[in-house]
Amino acid sequence: MSTAVTTPASPTPHGPEWWRTAVIYQIYPRSFADGNGDGLGDLAGIASRLDDLSYLGVDAIWLSPFFVSPQRDAGYDVANYRDVDPRFGTLADMDALIAAAHDRGIRVIADIVPNHTSSDHVWFQAALASAPGSPERARYLFKDGKGPDGSQPPTDWLSVFGGPAWSRVTEADGTPGQWYLHLFDESQPDLNWDNQEVVDEFDSVLRFWLDRGIDGFRVDVAHGMVKDPAYPDYQPKHDPEIGGGGIYLDCPYFGQTGVHRIWRHWRTVIDEYPGDRILTAESWVHPMTELANYTRPDEYHQAFNFPFMFAGWDAAKLRTSIDESLKEFGAVGAPSTWVLSNHDVVRHTSRFGLRDSGPQGSGIGPRDPQPDEALGLARARGAALMMLALPGSVFVYQGEELGLPEATQIPADARQDPTWFRTGGEKYGRDGCRVPIPWQAGAPAYGFSPTGAAWLPQPEGWDAYARSAQEGVEGSTLELYRAAMAARTAHGTSTADLTWIEGLPAGVLGFTVADLAVYVNTSDTPAPIDDPGDVVLASQDFDGTLAGNATVWIQR
Ligand code: GLC
Repeated sequence: MSTAVTTPASPTPHGPEWWRTAVIYQIYPRSFADGNGDGLGDLAGIASRLDDLSYLGVDAIWLSPFFVSPQRDAGYDVANYRDVDPRFGTLADMDALIAAAHDRGIRVIADIVPNHTSSDHVWFQAALASAPGSPERARYLFKDGKGPDGSQPPTDWLSVFGGPAWSRVTEADGTPGQWYLHLFDESQPDLNWDNQEVVDEFDSVLRFWLDRGIDGFRVDVAHGMVKDPAYPDYQPKHDPEIGGGGIYLDCPYFGQTGVHRIWRHWRTVIDEYPGDRILTAESWVHPMTELANYTRPDEYHQAFNFPFMFAGWDAAKLRTSIDESLKEFGAVGAPSTWVLSNHDVVRHTSRFGLRDSGPQGSGIGPRDPQPDEALGLARARGAALMMLALPGSVFVYQGEELGLPEATQIPADARQDPTWFRTGGEKYGRDGCRVPIPWQAGAPAYGFSPTGAAWLPQPEGWDAYARSAQEGVEGSTLELYRAAMAARTAHGTSTADLTWIEGLPAGVLGFTVADLAVYVNTSDTPAPIDDPGDVVLASQDFDGTLAGNATVWIQR
C-alpha cells in the first residue's frame, strides 16, 4: 500500500468556530418524544430527553419547525413565526428548552422557513381579501393567468410535491381570479423576496429568536427565494446521478444567483449577535461548486452536503464526493459537512438495503421491493463510521444512531405527507422516515409517548432498535455512534487533513486522518487489511480481515 493525494481540510480549522467540527443532531419534534401523550412529540418530550443526547455526545440540536402552523406540511407551513405551535408547547417551554440545552453545553438551531408561509398566515389571508395589484398581494407571487380568460396557469411549473405549482384564487366578487405560486403544497404560497417588507419582516423574525438565545438557523429551501423574472416555462429534468433534489442551473425557480444577496444580508444580522451563531443552508443545488458558493465567507457557515448523501454505498462515488466536498468547501474557507439521512429522504439503513439505487423523496411502500434489513444495517454502520472520521461537521438524523430503518408498510389511510395526496398515491412520500422513534423496548409506542399514541403507526419488531435495548450494550449501533463521536474529538479527525491510501482491493476505500487509518469495505467480499495498528473502532468484528460492508479505524 502507498499513500498519496492529500486533500487539505478547511484553511482555518483550529479556531473557536464550533460549527466547523460539530455533530448536529436533527430533532423532528413531532416524532422525537411525546411528553403529554397525545401522540405528537413536543418540547416537553425533547426536554425530558436532553440527558440522552448528552450521553450520545452531540454538540447541537437542530429542531425542525415548531412554530404555529396548520401542519399541512408538518410545520414547514408557518402561520406565525413568532410563537410555538400549541401542539408542541409554549414560548416559555421553548425558553426553558434553550436554557436546559445550554446548561448541558448543547446549542440549539431553529429551522426557519422563508421561501413560503402557510396559507393561514395573516399576510396571505390579507392578500386573498385584497385586490390584484394591492400591497397585500405584492408580498407573494400573484400573477394573471394565460389565455383570453386567464384560465391557464402563468407557467407550466410543477410543485415539488406533485401537480401544478400555481393555484387560482376566487376574487372578492366571486369571479375566478389571479394565480399564486407555490413551489410546494398549495397551502405554502411563495413569498416575494423582491419586496422590502418581506425582507424586513424576516430580519425581525431572526432577531426575535436570536434575542431568545437561539444559536442559529437551518434555512429551509435556501435555493428557492428568487425566481427568474421572465417566468419561462420549465420542466425539471431527472438525473439519477444527482439524486432526488438535484437542481439544474437552468431552473428558473431554484438556484438563482440572486438568492446570495439575501444570504449576505442575513449574515450581517447574525453577525450582530455574540456567541458564534450560525446559518446552515438547505440548498439542493449542483454541482458542488454551486453548493459551496452558499458558504462563502459572507454567507452561510455551512450547507448540507446532499451530493455526499446521494453517493450511496459505492467506493468510487464516495471517494469522488469526499474529494470534491473537501476541495470546494475548502476553496471558500468553509468546513465540509456530511449527512446521510434527514426527514425528507428514505432512511439510509433502508436505502443501503436495496441493491439497486433506491428512491428518495418518493419513499418506499408496500408495493415496492423491500430493503434487506441486515444488509442495510451493516452498511449503515459502516457508512456512519466512515462519516464520523471525515474532516468537518456531521448531521445525525434522530433514530439513525439506533440503526432505525424506514417504515415501509404504513397503511394508505395513515399517510400524511402532501406528496402522497398530490400524486394520487403514486409516490409514497416521506412518512416512512418520520415515524416516532423507539425509546423503550416492550413499552406502549416503544416509549415514545406515555399513552401509546403515535401520529404515524410504528412498525412491529422495533424493540431491538429501541434505545433501551442498545444503551450500554457493547457493539450496539447506539454505542458505535457514541464511541465514534467521542473518538473523532479525541483523535482530532474533524480538523485533520485526509490522505487516501492507494492499492486496496476493489470496493475498499482507505484513508488516513489525524493518527488513524480508516478502511471502508463497500463490497460483499471480505478484504485482508495489511495494517499492524491497533483497532480503535470497528463496525463489525475485525481480525485483520475486513468483513464485507464494514468499516474499521486503526491506530497509526
Ligand atoms: C424543505 C423541508 C421539507 C419541506 C420543504 C418545504 O425541503 O426539508 O420537509 O417539505 O422544504 O418547506
